[in-house]
Amino acid sequence: MAISASPDTTSDAHGTGAQLVRVAETGRMPVGITIDGQPVQALVDDTVLTAILTQQARLRDNEFGGGPRAGFCLMGACQECWVWRPDGSRLRACSALVSEGLVVLTRSPLTPWQIPSL
Ligand code: FES
Repeated sequence: MAISASPDTTSDAHGTGAQLVRVAETGRMPVGITIDGQPVQALVDDTVLTAILTQQARLRDNEFGGGPRAGFCLMGACQECWVWRPDGSRLRACSALVSEGLVVLTRSPLTPWQIPSL
């Protein structure tokens, strides 16, 4: 993964507030996705987690306490990186790749009692 964590989660070296800064592999083909209603550009073969965290400081909010989450293991084990599609289905952001037109939500469109258990 050719990215680097920003030491300050409120402001990176580029002033975007992103958690991750892309430092290499910047020549891959762009892919248009939408995050929380905002169209953004990812790169082909980015994970959803990379695409989101190169745009903003947090991956998602915890469904129950509301605290910010950014993923933890980055290998599909910890369950800290679930994000949602508009229909309420979920994606594990660290192991799902972006695709053109992908729409993701960092807050569940479901109420907590509608969220399926893990
Ligand atoms: S970051 Fe651990 S499962 Fe995705």
